[in-house]
Amino acid sequence: MSNKMWGGRFGEGPDRIMEEINASIGFDQRLFAQDIRGSKAHCTMLAEKGIISKADADQIIEGLDKVLAEIEAGEFAFSRELEDIHMNVESRLTELVGAAAGRLHTARSRNDQVATDFKLYVRDTLDHLDGQLKDFQLALLEKAEAHADAIMPGFTHLQTAQPVTFGHHCLAYVEMAARDRGRMQDARKRLNLNPLGSAALAGTSFTIDREMTAKALGFDGPTRNSLDAVSDRDFVLEALSAASIAAMHLSRLAEEIVIWSTPGFDFIRLPDSFTTGSSIMPQKRNPDAAELIRAKSGRVIGALTSLLVVMKGLPLAYSKDMQEDKEAAFDALDALSLSLAAMTGMVRTLTINAPAMKAAASRGFSTATDLADWLVRELNLPFRQAHHVTGSLVAKAEAKGCDLDGLTLEEMQAVEQGITKDVYSVLGVENSVASRTSFGGTAPDNVRQMAAFWRKELGQS
Ligand code: ARG
Repeated sequence: MSNKMWGGRFGEGPDRIMEEINASIGFDQRLFAQDIRGSKAHCTMLAEKGIISKADADQIIEGLDKVLAEIEAGEFAFSRELEDIHMNVESRLTELVGAAAGRLHTARSRNDQVATDFKLYVRDTLDHLDGQLKDFQLALLEKAEAHADAIMPGFTHLQTAQPVTFGHHCLAYVEMAARDRGRMQDARKRLNLNPLGSAALAGTSFTIDREMTAKALGFDGPTRNSLDAVSDRDFVLEALSAASIAAMHLSRLAEEIVIWSTPGFDFIRLPDSFTTGSSIMPQKRNPDAAELIRAKSGRVIGALTSLLVVMKGLPLAYSKDMQEDKEAAFDALDALSLSLAAMTGMVRTLTINAPAMKAAASRGFSTATDLADWLVRELNLPFRQAHHVTGSLVAKAEAKGCDLDGLTLEEMQAVEQGITKDVYSVLGVENSVASRTSFGGTAPDNVRQMAAFWRKELGQS
C-alpha cells in the first residue's frame, strides 16, 4: 500500500509505531472549528484573487460547512492514518466535493495552517479566561464590600503581625487578578498577527492577499516574516506564563482557605456544596476543591516548562517537535479554567466567623506596632527606642499572661515613665485598623473606597 497522504513519493505506508508517534489527531481534533474557519477564509481569498475559480470555492465552502456540522454532531470518524486535524478535514472534504477539494491547499502549508489554528484557539481561550478572572474579581469584591470592617490577624511568616480587615485581604486578590488579566490582554495583543500565507516557511509565489485573510480571521494584520511565523510559539508560551502566574495566585488563596477552615483557625466555613466528607471520620469537612486548585497549579507551571524545553533548541523554521506544543497547553488551560470556576464558587459561598477572626487578631500582641508608633508620636521617642520599650512591655505582658492592654498604667510607667492612660486608645484592634489610613492601608474607610474604585473599574472592563 502506498502512503495515503503523500502517495506520489512514497512506496509503502508507515510502520505502525511510526503512525502512532506521528499522529496528533488524538488531541488536535480540538482545533476543528479554528481549522475550518481558517480554511474558509483562505478559500474565499483564493477565489477573490482569481487563484481558484469561484465555482470550486463555492463547493469547498459548502463542503467545509458540512464537515463542521458532522464534527459538531459527533458523526465524524477521525482517523489516525490521516495524522492530524488538517488532513482529516481535507480528506473528508475530498469525499464530499471531489476534485475541487484538492485546490484548497494552494498557497498554504500545514505549517502556517497549524500556527493559525492554534493562535485562534489560544486567543479564544485568553478571552474566556479574562472573563472568568473578572467574575472571580467580582466575587472577591462582594466579600470585600460585605466585610470591609471585619477584623482578622494579618500575618508575616504566618505569625500574627498586625490586625487587618478581611475586606482588605479580599481586595489584595482583586489586585492580583487584575494583573493576571492585564498579562492575558497583553499576550493577546502580541499574538494577534496572522501567520496564514507564510506557507511552509518561505512564503508563496501565488498572488495571495494576506491582509484579507487577516481581516476575515479577526487579526490586526499579517505576520511580517514567514520563517518566524511558522516557527513561533511565543503566543502559547506567553499564554502559559500568564496562566502560570494566575494559577500560582489561586494556589496561594487555596492554601489560605485550607488554613482558615481548619478548626484550629475556624475563620471561615465552606458550604456543603464545596466540601467533601470522610469515609471514616464522620466529623470531617474537607476543603478538597481548594487542595485540588493548589495542586493543579503544578500542571500549568509544568506545561510552561515543558514547552520552553521543546522550543529551546529548535533551528528555524518548523520542526515536528512543535507538534508537542498542544497537549500540555490544552491540559493546562483547562486546569486553570476549572480552578477559576471552583475558586469563584468557593469565594461566593464561604461565610466568615467574624468573632473568631477578631479574637485571633487580638492575640499575639498584634498592636505592638501601634504602641511603638504612639511612643514616637506622643513622647517623641526615636522609633528604634520606641521599638525597644515596646519589646520590654510585650515581655512583661507575656510574663503576666495578658495582652498589652492588660498591663496597668503603673506597670507600663515602670518601663517608660512618660506613658499616660491615653495609650490604651491605640491598643484595641479596632483602633489599630482604623488608624491605618495611609493610601493602600487597611482602614475600613480605605477598604470601602477601594471597593468603590473596583466597582467602577469592573463595570467598565
Ligand atoms: N500536526 C502538525 C503540528 O501539530 C501539523 C504541521 C505538520 N507539518 C509538517 N510539516 N509535518 O505541528
